[in-house]
Amino acid sequence: MRAVDLIEKKKQGIEHTKEEINFLINGYMNGSIEDYQMSAWLMAVCFQGLSDSETAYLTQSFVDSGEVLDFSDIAVHVADKHSTGGVGDKVTLVLAPILASLGVYTAKLSGRGLGFTGGTIDKLESIPNFRCELSKDEFLNQIKNVHVAISSQSPNLTPADGKIYALRDVTATVDNKSLICASVVSKKIASGATSIVLDVKFGSGAFLKTKEEARELAELMIKTGKLLNKKIDVVISSMEQPLGYNIGNSLEVIESIEFLKGFYGEDLYDVTLALLTKTLINCGLAYDMSDAKKMMDEAIKNGSALNKFKEIIIAQGGNPDVINNYSLFEIGKNKIEIKALEGGYISKLSALDVAYCAKLLGAGRDKKSDSIDFGAGVILKKKVSDSINQGDVVMELYFNDVNQNKLDEAVTIARNSFKVSKIKVEKPVLIF
Ligand code: URA
Repeated sequence: MRAVDLIEKKKQGIEHTKEEINFLINGYMNGSIEDYQMSAWLMAVCFQGLSDSETAYLTQSFVDSGEVLDFSDIAVHVADKHSTGGVGDKVTLVLAPILASLGVYTAKLSGRGLGFTGGTIDKLESIPNFRCELSKDEFLNQIKNVHVAISSQSPNLTPADGKIYALRDVTATVDNKSLICASVVSKKIASGATSIVLDVKFGSGAFLKTKEEARELAELMIKTGKLLNKKIDVVISSMEQPLGYNIGNSLEVIESIEFLKGFYGEDLYDVTLALLTKTLINCGLAYDMSDAKKMMDEAIKNGSALNKFKEIIIAQGGNPDVINNYSLFEIGKNKIEIKALEGGYISKLSALDVAYCAKLLGAGRDKKSDSIDFGAGVILKKKVSDSINQGDVVMELYFNDVNQNKLDEAVTIARNSFKVSKIKVEKPVLIF
């Protein structure tokens, strides 16, 4: 077999066998297939697509490239969730402690932000001294003792996805549904969880732009799970406007702590509840959403969810005092207010624009090696359908040392990120 023949085959839209997919992935991992050949194959996939069987072979090949975690001697049910990426998406930060406080063992492997999307690991590292790089033993022990751990993706789990994801990011081959499916589902299979709930996002601040594409991806993920004997549940949610009010690393952790103290916005609450419901049903702890809602509200009200978040911080070496003292976080020293030029109702708030603005302020990175400013970001004061008067603040930009060109660009993008309508606008549908 030769890589060049397989690239030609996919270029012509011919279906690969399992052996051919394994040859490509193994060859890429052992160095006999070069970056430029894998890039050409990925681009051919973007144009010709992969069949359901090819997607399942690719997913299994990613899983087989590393180890698979096993929790069978710790708990019968172990939960995991994954989002396909969004803006202001801090659901993991609130869902993981809520689940653990309700008795669900939660093993969460998360990533860093890349491109315009944020990453849970960057957010957690804004807590002073918080450690995300847990060894396999540390991860397993913490799940045993605290019932929840949030760790960065170990290099031993699905290393083929890690290497190919980095290549996709710089070759414009991220947004193919089969490639996204194999990347996400392989990680979830390797992470060993028994309950896997995925949040497939669509809209301006997501990789997939339409609801139809999100539905196709959701169906493909469920089908791939079935072909590989893994039950997968999916929630489809809109990422047209950012989730919650804060965008940026420290700012998002603060919003999450506020959530766990009982102060939350409706959209973050609703997405969290949707994912919680599916997980609790999978684990036999709830029958429906009304059950799950009661349990979630109680865990917030009695402080057990917040206490679990504190336990996570302590277990992972962070400073738990941040929970009651937000000044321990790095927050941008400078603030610019973006105001409405006319009154009415917010009719549009682009998640993509807000994400680019936050990134220009220092909250995100262009390349994996770039450093980020934990304190940079955006706080939204208004969301779609809110009424607004002329001169009201729509959002605040927080930043430290940003060069003037970048700052000017960030302010221009922020000013153009929203629209005001004279006619009342309904709250957009969030979950499908
Ligand atoms: N998240 C992933 O882990 N992989 C993708 O391909 C896209 C989003």
